[in-house]
Amino acid sequence: MAADNFKDWLEELKNRINIVDVVEGYVSLNRKGGKYWACCPFHHEKTPSFSVDETGMYYCFGCHKGGDVISFVQDIEHTDFMGAVSILAAKAGMTVPEFSKKEGGTGISKRKRDRLYSLMREAASFYHKSLVGDAGKAARDYLENRGISRPTLTSFGLGFAPGNALIDRLRDMGYSNDEMLDAGVAGTSKSGRLYDVLGGRLIVPIINNLKQVIAFGGRVLEKGEQPKYRNTKETVIFDKSRELFGQHTIKKAMIEGAVDSVIMVEGYMDVISLYQAGIKNCMASMGTALTVQQARLLKRYADKVYISYDGDFAGQKATMRGLDILYGEGLSVKVVSVPGGKDPDEYVREFGKRGYMDLLSQAKPLFEYKLDKLAENYDLNVAEDRGAYAVEAVKVLYELKNPAQVEAYMDYISAKADIPKPVLVKQYAQGSEAEARPIPRLELTRKTGKYYNAMRFVLYSLFGGQEGVEERDLSQYITDGDHKAIYVEYCRLKSFKEPDLDDLQAMAEQYPEVEEIFREGKRVTEEQAPQVFADCMRSLEREKNRREIIALTKQIDGEKDPVKRDLLLAHYAELTAKNKK
Ligand code: UTP
Ligand code: MN
Repeated sequence: MAADNFKDWLEELKNRINIVDVVEGYVSLNRKGGKYWACCPFHHEKTPSFSVDETGMYYCFGCHKGGDVISFVQDIEHTDFMGAVSILAAKAGMTVPEFSKKEGGTGISKRKRDRLYSLMREAASFYHKSLVGDAGKAARDYLENRGISRPTLTSFGLGFAPGNALIDRLRDMGYSNDEMLDAGVAGTSKSGRLYDVLGGRLIVPIINNLKQVIAFGGRVLEKGEQPKYRNTKETVIFDKSRELFGQHTIKKAMIEGAVDSVIMVEGYMDVISLYQAGIKNCMASMGTALTVQQARLLKRYADKVYISYDGDFAGQKATMRGLDILYGEGLSVKVVSVPGGKDPDEYVREFGKRGYMDLLSQAKPLFEYKLDKLAENYDLNVAEDRGAYAVEAVKVLYELKNPAQVEAYMDYISAKADIPKPVLVKQYAQGSEAEARPIPRLELTRKTGKYYNAMRFVLYSLFGGQEGVEERDLSQYITDGDHKAIYVEYCRLKSFKEPDLDDLQAMAEQYPEVEEIFREGKRVTEEQAPQVFADCMRSLEREKNRREIIALTKQIDGEKDPVKRDLLLAHYAELTAKNKK
């Protein structure tokens, strides 16, 4: 399907959807003065400052979140552009065209994926019924012993896998052997028969942000059996490095009442147990070190993250690297220490919500944690050690992103090692040339969504000398971090000479997005290019207006002078009219 058709399709979708109806699904709106009002679902408030208007935009005068129906769904459902589009499409009774679903280029047809999703849903429902039915007695006893209540069991859709019964059940429902194998619920035995890979285990479904079941974790009921958890394999609908456990529950919690932080734990049971204790903003990394994709996913929920891992996790390099990734993605990171080598599940069961909340309030900012952790290797009563600690501690500061923080932590080290700050500053400067390294550039994950795609195609057109591109002032449109950096670098090169392929190659090494720009750009034929370019510019223009509208609303909000306010309002009307076209 061609891009043009997708655009038409999207237009049709937007026509069929009324933003008021969509928002009403989450909060109740009251009509007043030509707008609809509610208490904002994105921040905590008692009087309504969240508004929805007929132009199809929403805006909160309290927290300044705003946008159109798609960005509303993106924000409230914590999903990306295409995720929001598919939610809206389902509401409108429309089917998302295939081409737009082919993210990551798996080339798997949408029909096939949908079959896997429904297979997984059937399996989850079968497991759950087994848990609450006759076959599930042992598993129910196990949960009871762990203090997991019936409502909690239901909230997480826990289950039990009785032998190989699932296989027959799915076969009766018309699923083929290949489909069961592809979904990861079945394995093939030596004799060639299919078996349930999680047979005999307690089942924890892994549910994504769109409430789809994408995988299962299965825990043994008997102590000592190995492996403790077996998980269904990675499949076309389950990429472990891009998922977190607990998304559906945290989303629910966020809609019920604003949440400003996420607590990252290691295990399924930690999420479940904390949830039951009333701490509902938790997600689990499922036992592996955090990836960039997971960090970005996490960021959709909150800017603050508490790391509440088991016992002495910092010994593991991979885990520490995970925390650096979170910091690198701009999250504020705090580290929770759970005393006595307990995991959060054990702790909250013993000391309750109160006890665990106390631990949270004592959590250390990431760098304080690192500096304290480092100090454990030294005896700071000994002069020699104090010096050695200071040298290493200063190196930790090279990872900080801004000078103000370096400054603040200099004080911290100075107090801790009892070494005057000027000396530390000197030490810092000495090492900085040799050692200073920027936060490592992280592996690329594609920023998807209409505007990123548009930015990339516009850059592609610029590199390829597309007619009419040079005349435009692109700096207003290419606003996203890395894309902007690429644009600026290109312009810098161009001020010397026409950049050639070698220059672009060099840039690609620094900015992996450059490769993406070419990969995507090449899909458009030369004939299509001018039209696609024009479309992209129009998209970016709208996005620019949208941002301006948001900034304007803020300004209007704070403007006391009625004359100036009217001027701003006029500009606002003009921009919204433009974007409605
Ligand atoms: P934990 O052993 O901390 O999990 O492993 P837990 O949830 O606390 O387990 P129990 O039930 O209370 O004993 C953390 C996570 O690592 C993954 C699982 O996702 C688990 O929740 N894991 C662990 C496995 O995948 N396989 C294993 O054998 C063990
Ligand atoms: Mn545990």
